[in-house]
Amino acid sequence: MAIKITDYKNLSKAENIAVGISEDGFARSLSPVLEAEIKRLRQLGDLKGKKDELHIIYPEGKGPCRLILCGLGKSHDLNIEKVRKTIGRAIKKCREIKQWNLTVAVDSFALGSVKIGNAAQAAALAGTLAIYQYCEYKSAHKAEEKIPPFKLYLALREKTANIRQLKQGEIIAEGANFARTLGNHPGNRLAPRALAKEAISLGRKYPKITVRVKQKPELSKQGFGALLGVGSGSINPPVLIECVYKGGKTGQAPVGLVGKGITFDSGGISIKPSAKMDEMRYDMCGAAAVLGIIQSAAELKLPLNLVGIIPAAENLPSATAYRPGDILTSLSGQTIEVLNTDAEGRLVLADALTYIQRFKPDCIIDLATLTGAVIVALGHIAIGLVSNNDKLSDEIKIAARDSGERVWRLPLWDEYRDLIKSEVADVANISSKSGAGTITASAFLEKFINSVPWVHLDIAGTAWGEAGAIYSKGATGSGVRLIMEWLMRKAEK
Ligand code: BES
Ligand code: MN
Ligand code: ZN
Repeated sequence: MAIKITDYKNLSKAENIAVGISEDGFARSLSPVLEAEIKRLRQLGDLKGKKDELHIIYPEGKGPCRLILCGLGKSHDLNIEKVRKTIGRAIKKCREIKQWNLTVAVDSFALGSVKIGNAAQAAALAGTLAIYQYCEYKSAHKAEEKIPPFKLYLALREKTANIRQLKQGEIIAEGANFARTLGNHPGNRLAPRALAKEAISLGRKYPKITVRVKQKPELSKQGFGALLGVGSGSINPPVLIECVYKGGKTGQAPVGLVGKGITFDSGGISIKPSAKMDEMRYDMCGAAAVLGIIQSAAELKLPLNLVGIIPAAENLPSATAYRPGDILTSLSGQTIEVLNTDAEGRLVLADALTYIQRFKPDCIIDLATLTGAVIVALGHIAIGLVSNNDKLSDEIKIAARDSGERVWRLPLWDEYRDLIKSEVADVANISSKSGAGTITASAFLEKFINSVPWVHLDIAGTAWGEAGAIYSKGATGSGVRLIMEWLMRKAEK
């Protein structure tokens, strides 16, 4: 646990203090000295409290101290997402001025419809995400380039009532950070079996999580032809990771989670251009999200059953690689004509989707960095959602609204289904026409779903990115916050 909870009384001893300032409201219950400073700035007209405004001031008569004043806009327009982003920015500002600690006066961020519990959760979540860094491979002698670990204190006027929500925020962010670290690992450090080891460690840590890993011989015997096909070009064999969390009643149908685990995607024989190919180390971010979600669920002791299935493989060209034109027999028995070895995600997912239905899940959510086309459609702003079920899809949309991870649903009409017909096999792995790449990929996945409510999340645009208000450059843990929001609601029902 990276953050510490502290009392408002201790604010006077803090070195760096973040205070939320709205255009209309006033910071509550700070010390008289600090309140006087804020008033003075407001009177001068230098402090307006507008959204995104950020000032550092150095109050006199109060030891060594920086006040970071964070504009929140009009208090009646304030929402949780604005609080999250503002706290992220305050932490960023601290780092810029080489300060490695911050105390957030949480109550000052609770204005308008944002209650103190919400603000505490938002601060814990955004703070935990913002202080994350991936520096495992910076040598000690490069210490000057290494950022010291950040100490984050959350000050609350009234602790007890709001600790639960605060902890929830922190636990969800830690799940996301776990997913980010897995995502950030390069292909040579995290091949399919290394990913399986990470899942096994998770199982060791939490008694309610059981992990099983199917290695290549078992996959062959049981007929995982699509997964084996994709993995056949690499010296690192494919695996299928099965991660079960039992927090609910025995016999209660589990929620099914599937995550694409391509630890590196070169495109295979249909090789990708070399520009930005390094980014294909992130092609297992769906798998990472599934593990992050299961970790958070176990940490929160959610009263639900979950089953996470991760098909993991490395997509490389070689003398043993699968080829364009190959026909694979999937676990479902359906044959697949491989017209492009770079459309590998949907192949490994096909077998995983077939397999997970043996657990009789009440619904299936898959998370995958599946198509470049989703970036064309939605940029890096939203997750692409495709579903066979309006109710489940609407539930995920509500979770998106509250979690701050956006989704946008795309249609799945028969005309799209027609595009993946094959002349020689049951289905082709790419569309016969250009356009709607995200939807035709989904139409392919749907062939492996036997009428169970299913939501496909294409996270190719959101799973990694440039540094922003909250995230540093690299993997974002996309999907963890969204699905945790949905699961927490489901657990309350
Ligand atoms: N992993 C990629 C999708 C991807 C591309 C994610 C760019 C993030 C950025 C996936 O395996 C892939 O290569 N998809 C192809 C499908 C095509 C061959 C039908 C794509 O999107 O170009
Ligand atoms: Mn690919
Ligand atoms: Zn891929």
